[in-house]
Amino acid sequence: MKVLGVETSCDDTGVAIYDTGSHTVEHILYSQVAIHTKYGGIVPELASRDHVRKIFPLVEKLLEKSKCQLDDIAGCAYTKGPGLMGSLLVGASFIKSLAWSMDIPCIGVNHLEAHFLAADLQSKRLNYPFLGLLVSGGHTLLVECYGLGRYTVLGSTLDDAVGECFDKTAKLLGLGYPGGPAISKYAKAGFPKRFNFPKPLAGKQTYDFSFSGLKTHVKQTVEKLEKTQQDICDISRALEDTIVTVIEKRVQRALADKKHHSFVLAGGVAANTKLREKLQEVCANMEVNFYCPEQIFCTDNGAMVAITGAKYLLDNVADDSLAISVLPRWPLDQL
Ligand code: KG4
Ligand code: ZN
Repeated sequence: MKVLGVETSCDDTGVAIYDTGSHTVEHILYSQVAIHTKYGGIVPELASRDHVRKIFPLVEKLLEKSKCQLDDIAGCAYTKGPGLMGSLLVGASFIKSLAWSMDIPCIGVNHLEAHFLAADLQSKRLNYPFLGLLVSGGHTLLVECYGLGRYTVLGSTLDDAVGECFDKTAKLLGLGYPGGPAISKYAKAGFPKRFNFPKPLAGKQTYDFSFSGLKTHVKQTVEKLEKTQQDICDISRALEDTIVTVIEKRVQRALADKKHHSFVLAGGVAANTKLREKLQEVCANMEVNFYCPEQIFCTDNGAMVAITGAKYLLDNVADDSLAISVLPRWPLDQL
């Protein structure tokens, strides 16, 4: 079965076709970053308008790229939430109308679950149950997953998300948006241990995270510097090292306590090479299977929506109603 998936929860228009028979995916991703850069952040109204402009041509291009006819599509999926109301509505209206006109099943998926299931786009098949860590621009969640739609949240951020901490520091250093890739590029030329940043909630018996204190500490440090190229590299290095250590300790403890045999790292920040390598090493030492989507499928994309939708449709779960409804807030433990 070929499933068409679209992701429009924020500022990326992602479209993909996932084939459940061959486990292959074709996808196209269009980023609106150039539109929002000049405003220093995402402007929701501009985001929805651009999704409207791009979604149809992108699907046409995708069909051409996959050498597929519209009639070959047997099911449709869209991101129902969480995300920006207007952006979500564009994807939902487009896909629901298409599915209705073709008389094929359709399903709205949770963006956070889709991030995890993107790990199944690679050849190593993902098995339940698993311990999962979602690190993105808007979320930091440590969860236990027992099956499709069955999540228990162990911990989350008390304030800023990890990606937000990368993005805000990058803005402070004048490195633009998104901040994560820029920080990690500059960190490569940074001296280790020039700065000693606090490790929030270190040593506490909690699975929660907190990053706003770290962000403030970095801000105060940056204000005292001339911001030379080397300063920027050293700050980036210290921030990345601190974040990786905080996450490593939390994951290590959760794996030891909960005794899962599989671990999934997902979300935009999972594209960070240092974090991937460190958590892979932690898993290897604890004899836990490590899963993480390919770097291109860590950040928002249509493939994660197509594969998640495909799993629900294969289980005969679809949304037959004609109503177009989205959920800008949709916690993972309320699926
Ligand atoms: O999952 P995502 O595309 O969007 C949300 O659902 O939030 O994540 C975007 C976040 C941004 O904060 C971005 O800075 C971060 O992922 N990111 C990275 C890297 N690539 C993207 N953070 C650290 N290192 C990276 N290489
Ligand atoms: Zn995301």
